[in-house]
Amino acid sequence: MIDLATYTPMGDKKNSEFFEEYLPKVYDRRRQSGLEQVVGDTAALVVQVEHGDAVDYLAELAAMGPYRFQSARLTETHKVYVLQSRAEFPRLIVLEPLSPSYEDNVTRWNMLYPLARKKPNARYIGEVYKTESTKAVREALEPQNIRFAYPGDTVNGFYTMSHLTFTFMSDFTYNRVGYVDIDLDDLDALGLGEPISLTSEERGKLDRADALQEEHGIKDLVLGVDHAATRILAGDREHALLEYLTVVPYYFWGAYNIHEMNSSTNVTRHRDIDDEKKSPARVFTANNTPSIVNSFDNLPMPTEDFVRNFGRRMHHIAMAVIDGHVADEKNVDYVVRRLAEMGTPFLAHVVGECKDDPNLKQIFSKSSQYSLLITEYIERCHNYEGFFTRDNVAALTAAAGADERYEHGHVFD
Ligand SMILES: [Fe+2]
Repeated sequence: MIDLATYTPMGDKKNSEFFEEYLPKVYDRRRQSGLEQVVGDTAALVVQVEHGDAVDYLAELAAMGPYRFQSARLTETHKVYVLQSRAEFPRLIVLEPLSPSYEDNVTRWNMLYPLARKKPNARYIGEVYKTESTKAVREALEPQNIRFAYPGDTVNGFYTMSHLTFTFMSDFTYNRVGYVDIDLDDLDALGLGEPISLTSEERGKLDRADALQEEHGIKDLVLGVDHAATRILAGDREHALLEYLTVVPYYFWGAYNIHEMNSSTNVTRHRDIDDEKKSPARVFTANNTPSIVNSFDNLPMPTEDFVRNFGRRMHHIAMAVIDGHVADEKNVDYVVRRLAEMGTPFLAHVVGECKDDPNLKQIFSKSSQYSLLITEYIERCHNYEGFFTRDNVAALTAAAGADERYEHGHVFD
């Protein structure tokens, strides 16, 4: 267990006096309010897709990683699909509106941004944490000005159940945080609508994706979620961190200035866990300066551009590739080569070196047409514990930035 009173964060990104003053206060309040004692690991990640896209998205996930369809329910507004990788890792929950004209605040927010409006219901929603009591969580956090959704606040009842409760979308990240106080595999106990099954055609799509992955020899090489990274505006960096550390039992691991990309990478991690894939690290990326002053220095600003084009949102989810070799190829190189043969497009190439020293190799896929999320593949060679390397992050950010440019007239059709 990390001792928050003595831990010194990693990295060279300077924090303000404001942040240094409030970080220990946030940790203390978390313990005093009881939140720290009642919230555990990540239970699930939640993604919403457009009406009609869910099964294709599930097939894409089955081809690209470890998540497999487990069960589905029909609610008043959505089909809700629950996917599993390993039993001890978080579930992935996919929400699909029943109607092509479905609209909630996700839809309206996405419609404000030029590259998000073509899929206005597609968005990473947030992560769900295990808790002993959703009521206790609300009672701890509401006096701290964390707002929870209650029935009537949103048309999607998934966010306002008694055993599964979600915060409002954060003003800094536009992600929610959820809490669940029963086993997410027990959907009857959750009260999540009627069971539904896949049609034989839908089942066939998923089976073909699964078989394709197996035939290409990558089925057991991609383990689970290593980390997830949200992009936010320059001015919101410290606020987003303090907010996240208020609501979950994570700690501020550290922050690095990625000078070449005019951004910083800010990492929060679970305090007490034997395998990070049980409760993946949450990363926040922000530009160092806002776009409004950029023309003075003409620095690159891919992170700020991403937020201006898509709105603040989850940018990528990283999948851990097991460390090792297939013949003389590193596993991540093998996985990426085989995925490319299967038709998965990637941005640039694998970055980083894995020779004899502990190190990292990483790559970004192109963003999914269903979720708009990039999938990162990451191999932590020889038990690399440094979490990330500055050079890799700079190269990945540059590759993603080149793919996320907005050109006038391109998408308003
Ligand atoms: Fe990443």
